[in-house]
Amino acid sequence: MAETDLRPRHLIQPYFVQTAEGSNPIEAMPGIARTGLTATVKQVEADLKLGLKSVLLFGVPDEKSPLAEYSHDPHGIVPLTVTALKKAFGNDLIVMTDVCLCAYTDHGHCGVVQDGYVANDESVAILAEMALTHAQAGADIVAPSDMMDGRIAAMRARMDDEGFQNVGILSYAIKHNGAYYGPFREAADCAPKFGDRRSYQMDPRNAREGLKDALLDIEEGADILMVKPGLHNLDLIWRLREVSLLPICSYHVSSEYSAVKAGDRLGWLNGDQLMYEQLISLRRAGSDMIVTYAGREALNKGWLK
Ligand code: PBG
Ligand code: ZN
Repeated sequence: MAETDLRPRHLIQPYFVQTAEGSNPIEAMPGIARTGLTATVKQVEADLKLGLKSVLLFGVPDEKSPLAEYSHDPHGIVPLTVTALKKAFGNDLIVMTDVCLCAYTDHGHCGVVQDGYVANDESVAILAEMALTHAQAGADIVAPSDMMDGRIAAMRARMDDEGFQNVGILSYAIKHNGAYYGPFREAADCAPKFGDRRSYQMDPRNAREGLKDALLDIEEGADILMVKPGLHNLDLIWRLREVSLLPICSYHVSSEYSAVKAGDRLGWLNGDQLMYEQLISLRRAGSDMIVTYAGREALNKGWLK
C-alpha cells in the first residue's frame, strides 16, 4: 500500500570542486569533502556504480574579486571538471552546475555590489556569462541559485544565442533566506562578509511571493523548479506542484543534513533512519528529485532496499 518510493534516480549528489588535488573533508558536514579534479572523477565513478547518475557541482575557486571574473573563466575549476566528467562518463552521467557569484566575489554576496547594494541587472549579465561558460564546457543543466530577478530569461537567451538550446535550466525558484545554509557556506567559502542575503533571497514568512516568482521563472524558460530548504517548505513543494506542470526538485540543505549527523553523533537520535524519513517526506510532498548530501550514503547503506 506504499504510496511513495525513493529510488536512486531521484537523488542528485552535490560536489564541492577545488583546484588543489586531493580530498579535504568539510568539518560541519560529516561524509562530505571538497575534491580536486582527479578525486572528483574517481568519486563520481564510484557513485555511478551505486546508481547515482546526477551530480551538482559547486566551485570552490582560489580567486575572488569584486566583479567575480573567475566565475566565467573557461579554465576555471568548474568548467574543467565538467569537461573531464563528460569525457569520462558521457551520457551515463547528468552534470549540473551551480550558477552563482558568492564563491567568486571577494565580499561573498551572490551578485556584484554597487553603493552597498547588490546590483541586480549587472549581476544577471555576469551570471549569464557563467551559465554559458558551463554550457560550453559540456554541462547538461545549469542551476542558478543566485536569486536575482530576470536571470532565467537572460541565461536562456545567452545560451540559445550561442547554440546551447539543449542545455536545461534548473531554477532555484523558491529559496528562503536564513540560517539553513551555514555548513554549506563553510564548504563553499561563500559567507557574506557584510550584511545578509535578505535583499535577494526570500522571506521565510512568505509563501505566495515564492509561488509568484516561480511562475515568472516558468515564463522565462525554466525547465525544473527548485524549492529550498526542502524540509522547511514541504507546503510550498505541494503548492508548487498544484500551480505548475514542471518537474520539481527540492534541496535537502546542509543544515538539515548536518543537524541529523550531529544528533546521531551525540546518540540522541537514529541518524540513518531519520535521514531516510526526511528524504521520503520530500518525495511525498511532491519532489520529483532531491538534491541531498545523503545520496551516496543512502545507497551505500541500502536504505532504499
Ligand atoms: C549559493 C548557494 C547556497 C546554497 C546553495 N547555493 C548558499 C547560500 O545561498 O547562502 C545552500 C545549500 C546548502 O545549504 O546545502 N548561492
Ligand atoms: Zn550565492
